[in-house]
Amino acid sequence: MSYRVLNSISVKNLSGRELAKDKSSLLVILVDKTAKKNNLLVHLDKVSKGGLFGSINSLMKSKAKSLNLHSVAGVSSKEILLMKTPEKSDTYVWLNFFKSISKVANSLGKQDISVMFACKTLKNRDDNWMIEACCRQIEASAYIFGSSKNKTVVKPSLKRASIIVGSVSASSLKKLKNSAKVGFAAGEGMNAAKHLGDMPANLCTPRIIEKKVKALKKPFPKLKISSFNEKDLAKLKMGSFLSVGRGSDEPSRMMTIEHKGGKKGEKPIVLVGKGITFDTGGISLKPSPAMDEMKWDMCGAASVFGVMIALARLNAKVNVIGLLACAENMPSAHATKPGDVVTSMSGQTIEILNTDAEGRLVLCDALTYVKRYKPAHVIDIATLTGACVVALGNFATGLMANDQKLADKLLQAGENSGDRAWQLPLWDEYKACTKTNFADLANIGGAGAGTVTAACFLSKFTEDYSWAHLDIAGTAWVKGNEKGGTGRPVPLLLDHILS
Ligand code: BES
Ligand code: MN
Ligand code: ZN
Repeated sequence: MSYRVLNSISVKNLSGRELAKDKSSLLVILVDKTAKKNNLLVHLDKVSKGGLFGSINSLMKSKAKSLNLHSVAGVSSKEILLMKTPEKSDTYVWLNFFKSISKVANSLGKQDISVMFACKTLKNRDDNWMIEACCRQIEASAYIFGSSKNKTVVKPSLKRASIIVGSVSASSLKKLKNSAKVGFAAGEGMNAAKHLGDMPANLCTPRIIEKKVKALKKPFPKLKISSFNEKDLAKLKMGSFLSVGRGSDEPSRMMTIEHKGGKKGEKPIVLVGKGITFDTGGISLKPSPAMDEMKWDMCGAASVFGVMIALARLNAKVNVIGLLACAENMPSAHATKPGDVVTSMSGQTIEILNTDAEGRLVLCDALTYVKRYKPAHVIDIATLTGACVVALGNFATGLMANDQKLADKLLQAGENSGDRAWQLPLWDEYKACTKTNFADLANIGGAGAGTVTAACFLSKFTEDYSWAHLDIAGTAWVKGNEKGGTGRPVPLLLDHILS
C-alpha cells in the first residue's frame, strides 16, 4: 500500500514560450506586487495581449485572494488561477497558504496543475525552501481519509503537480528538483502518519500496525524489518511494556525498521514511537467525553513509520532505526491495577500508581532496548501528557533533552520546517518526583509539571546516550471540523535527519 496521494510532483524549467504551451488543466500563479517583473509572465502577458497583467492589476487592487481566468488568449492551460501570496512573512501563514493550493485544485476537480512563483520568497528563506515547503504541503493537504466506508468522502482529483521555474542554471535546477523530491517525500511520510492515526482503533491494533510495517518490504526491499510478539518481549524481560497490554485481548507488538543508507559503521539515529492503539486509561479509566481521540495515542509510532517511509523513498544517505512500541490500554480482570509493581528491562522496578500513565511504561523498555544499537542519539516521540496540551496548546511540540546540543538542533529543525517545538526544563530538581517507597520508581509525579515529570521518568532509562523526547499530545491531531491527524512531527524529524 502506498501512502502517496499524488502520482508525481516535479520541477520544470521553462521559457516563456514553453510555458504558454504548457497544457496543464490549471496553471496556478502565486503573485504579489513584484509579479509583473517575472520574465515568464512578461511573455504570457504579451501573448495574451495585456490580458494577464490587467487581471493581476485588478486582483492586487481588490480584497479578493484569488482570481480565476478561463481560456486566456495564447495560453494552452485551460484555466489560470492567480493566487495572492500572504502579506505576512510568517512561516505558518505560508504553509497554510501552500495547503490551499491542493484544496482549490481538488475543489475544481483538476487532475494536474502547474504552479509557479511570481513573488518574493519569505524573509530568510530561499527558492529551495519555497519549493520544498510547497511540494510538501501540496502532497500533505491532498490527503483525504477514505479507508472506512463513508459515502461523504470524495476522492481527491489531483494527481500531478509541476513546479514551473524559468531560466535557472543546470546546477540550481538540480538543487530545486531535489528540494521538490524531499518535499514530496515529506508529504508522503506525513500522509502515512495521518493514515495510521486516523484509522479507527478497531482497525488499527498492534497486530495490524505490524502487518503494515511488514508490508513496507514490498515497495522498499532495502528496509530491514523485525517484529517482536509478547513472548519475545517477555524474553527481553520487558515487564513494564507488557504490563500495559495485560487488560487487552489484543496482544502487544514491537517493531523495528532499519534504514541503512549511510556509511557502514556510522552510528544510527534511533527514533522510538509510542504506539498505544487505544488508551482507555485502563483501570484508572478516563472520562468518556472525547475518549475517541485516544485512537490517536499511537501517533508517535505513526510518525516514526512516516519518517522511515520518507527516508526509504529518498534513498537518504543516513543510518536511521525506527522503533514502534504498540499496545492497547484496556481495563479488564487481567488488567494491571494501581499499586502493582513491575520490573522493567533495565532492572528498575516500577510502581504503577496510575494505569493511565502507560505511554512511559512501554517507552522505558523500548528506550532500554535501543542501547544495543550504540546510537548517535535517540529521539522518542509520544502523545505522552495532557499537561503538554495545557502548557503549549496545539502549536508547539514539547521538547525535553539530556543533551542541549541535540535540543538546539531539534529546535532549529522545527524552525526550518515550520513544524515547531518548544523546550521545557528537565532539571534535576524535578526528578525526585518519581520516588516511591515501594519500588525504584513510581510512574507518576506530583501535581505540577506533568509533561516534565513524565520526561523525568523516561530520563532514568536514557542515561547512557544522548536523548531527546518530543511530547506531541497537542500537535499530532486537530479537533473540530477538520478533525484528523496532522502528520506532525514528521517534517521536524526529517529536517533534523537530512540536515
Ligand atoms: N495519552 C495520554 C495523554 C493525552 C491526553 C494525550 C490527552 C492527548 C490528549 C496519556 O497516556 C495519559 O493518559 N497521560 C496522563 C498522565 C497522568 C495519569 C500522569 C495524563 O496526561 O492525564
Ligand atoms: Mn494514558
Ligand atoms: Zn496514552
